[in-house]
Amino acid sequence: MHQRYRLLRLLADGRFHSGEGLGTALGIGRSAVWKLVRSLEGLGVDVFAVAGKGYRLAHPLDLLDRERILSAVDGSTRKLVSGVEVLPSIDSTNRFLMERIDRGLPPGSACLAEHQQAGRGRRGRAWISPFGANIYLSVSWRFDTSPDSLGGAGLAAGVAVARALHAVGITGFGLKWPNDVLWEGRKLAGILLEMKGESTGPYDVVVGIGLNVRMPPGAQASIDQPWVDIASIAGGPQDRNRIAGLLLKNLVQGLADFSGNGLEPFLAEWSRLDLVQGRAVSLSTGLGPVSGTAMGLDRDGALLLRVDGETRRYVSGEVSLRL
Ligand code: BTN
Repeated sequence: MHQRYRLLRLLADGRFHSGEGLGTALGIGRSAVWKLVRSLEGLGVDVFAVAGKGYRLAHPLDLLDRERILSAVDGSTRKLVSGVEVLPSIDSTNRFLMERIDRGLPPGSACLAEHQQAGRGRRGRAWISPFGANIYLSVSWRFDTSPDSLGGAGLAAGVAVARALHAVGITGFGLKWPNDVLWEGRKLAGILLEMKGESTGPYDVVVGIGLNVRMPPGAQASIDQPWVDIASIAGGPQDRNRIAGLLLKNLVQGLADFSGNGLEPFLAEWSRLDLVQGRAVSLSTGLGPVSGTAMGLDRDGALLLRVDGETRRYVSGEVSLRL
């Protein structure tokens, strides 16, 4: 990755660069440059090659920068962050942190990557993670409470993502229980919680957020669900480092608040953003699908469904709207 990352830094401005100039900067020959450029396709980066002009990216890249990310995190929240790692490419930022928990990773550690080779989605799905385009952020946190209430941490994280999006100026999106951020029925962001711990606690949780900022055309065909990105909603490119910083800040603040006060401080906001409340839905559960009317959440964040005249409570499952 090292040479490819260096090449991407050189090409990031979106201008033409000659094969010869790139070769000199990287200390390799022109045919090696050509091979390296071809290999960028595997990262989901679109590159043009034009005879006589050289190589150019389809879009300039706004590469992640640790200091610019941290500048969006205010002093009191920064104290809750024990470290921020920005990686060019990793299989999964969630996996990266989960693996380090047993080796003494301090709670409050954050990891962002430009690219994920095997990004993880909920329910065993893949999260398509092309280079330099979107945000892939994971944060580790330690809780003393039992795992039953940790579903609430995912709901708090959803509100945290919503607060960050509002701070960026994005509106018109909502939350679909438990962890989806949707804009006009299309997925804008997803949240994946993974957990480690003994039955007596404490529990280490890694909260991973994937936020679509500008999905490159080359990656779009691989996505198997309706999606949207910030660039299309906002009508142009956005400052990815600022968005990442605001996400980090709101997520860490949200997790700290949830640790101390539970779900209570998040429920009213969640309810305002709830996309399915009052609507006919189908919930896929381990025991098969259940159809009913979504009635919002209870105090613990369980989904309430009105089914055959009675209100039932569910702590897991996948909601789809019945049309
Ligand atoms: C979903 O399926 O909706 C959840 C998607 C979560 C994706 C993020 S990207 C950063 C972190 N690392 C991963 O491997 N997954 C999460």
